[in-house]
Amino acid sequence: MKILVIGSGAREHALVRTLQRDSGVEVSCAPGNAGIAQDAPTYPINATDGPAVVALAKELAADLVVIGPEAPLVAGVSDDLRAAGIPVFGPSSAAAQLEGSKAFAKQVMNDAGVPTARAHLCTTVDQAAAALDDFGPTYVVKDDGLAAGKGVVVTDDRQAALDHAQACIEGRPDGAVVIEEFLDGPEVSLFGVTDGTTVVPLSPAQDFKRVANNDLGPNTGGMGAYTPLPWAPAGLTEEVVAKVLQPTVDEMAERGTPFSGLLYAGLALTSRGTRVIEFNARFGDPETQVVLTRLDSPLSELLFASATGTLASLPELKWKNESVVTVVMAAEGYPESPVTGAVITGLNDVTDATVFHAGTRNNDGDIVVSGGRVLTVTASGADLHEARANAYNGVNHIKFSGEHHRTDIAERAANGEVHVP
Ligand code: AMP
Ligand code: GLY
Repeated sequence: MKILVIGSGAREHALVRTLQRDSGVEVSCAPGNAGIAQDAPTYPINATDGPAVVALAKELAADLVVIGPEAPLVAGVSDDLRAAGIPVFGPSSAAAQLEGSKAFAKQVMNDAGVPTARAHLCTTVDQAAAALDDFGPTYVVKDDGLAAGKGVVVTDDRQAALDHAQACIEGRPDGAVVIEEFLDGPEVSLFGVTDGTTVVPLSPAQDFKRVANNDLGPNTGGMGAYTPLPWAPAGLTEEVVAKVLQPTVDEMAERGTPFSGLLYAGLALTSRGTRVIEFNARFGDPETQVVLTRLDSPLSELLFASATGTLASLPELKWKNESVVTVVMAAEGYPESPVTGAVITGLNDVTDATVFHAGTRNNDGDIVVSGGRVLTVTASGADLHEARANAYNGVNHIKFSGEHHRTDIAERAANGEVHVP
């Protein structure tokens, strides 16, 4: 099977590597990055340019195209591929609105009876002020559009909350903001692979959203992750499939916009029960790096079955009996204003971990920083202690100017505690 992966992050590097484990699979990637280019042929096209992606898929005679990031999904690249008769892993543009618009996701959840935070959609600053006072602190203010995980402000400072709301409303012609009730409790990322009818859950993971140790500093795309969750309540996955993933997939089908691909539920396990914080329409980054490392079944068969509507006949997934931890190494200034260009050294000295590349570029043989999240260093172990030790041992071999990472990824879980951000 020939598979073309679209994207250029560490998530796509993990997808490429995991697909390459399957026999008879040939993987290429567009546009990729310096690390992916060491493993597979890469093609420098714009991932959101549908006709260019279709042309490349035809040229490569791809049997399956796997779309990694949200931007090409929302832009309708999967629709262009389907129109050309090419099987694609990833939802239509209409279905990707579950991620593209927080207001749309709320409507779908309300119609499907999926538990989520109460929320107000505001298009004026006065409405936003009233919504803030309806819920009181802690305030949660979300840009309605795509913001790569960085459009959300959670704060006790009313003025900061209102300033963010104003920036979202005035930042775009049709700017809008969602203000919602604060959800307490630990967070879980649970991925469901679906073909529009059947849902196959993956191994639950926890992501670390804030830039600094102890969940301090601004939100990022994610600074590290681990799987499985030793503290998770028994039956969590089954509960989330029954109460969240399956009803959402059924609701999307009923609306005539079936969702196929990966439905990512970002959850809060609150004292009043499990609530959805957000949906994403694609694999999470960096959770994918740990989830796919733990997967012990052929990924190509899973993604192809999603693309072709045959998930119901797929054998049950197998998972390795081990823990996996990934640590993100970020560029100076990330997330506000990442500084690019620093030369990365030590990549070849890492032995007990896998280094998935994100923002890297090959500059005449030097691997240099080209984005905010630069590398994700991923390692397995018999338990979280061993997986952490292996991952941080890998991190300690790699150097670049201005590099920063969290040192507390999976620490509390390894010590038998629950991590609540
Ligand atoms: P989102 O982009 O919606 O995933 O939000 C990013 C992060 O903000 C989440 O992972 C949470 O840590 C936090 N967050 C979002 N919504 C809420 C909420 N209603 N209550 C508490 N924290 C939230
Ligand atoms: N790690 C969070 C996300 O992928 O959105």
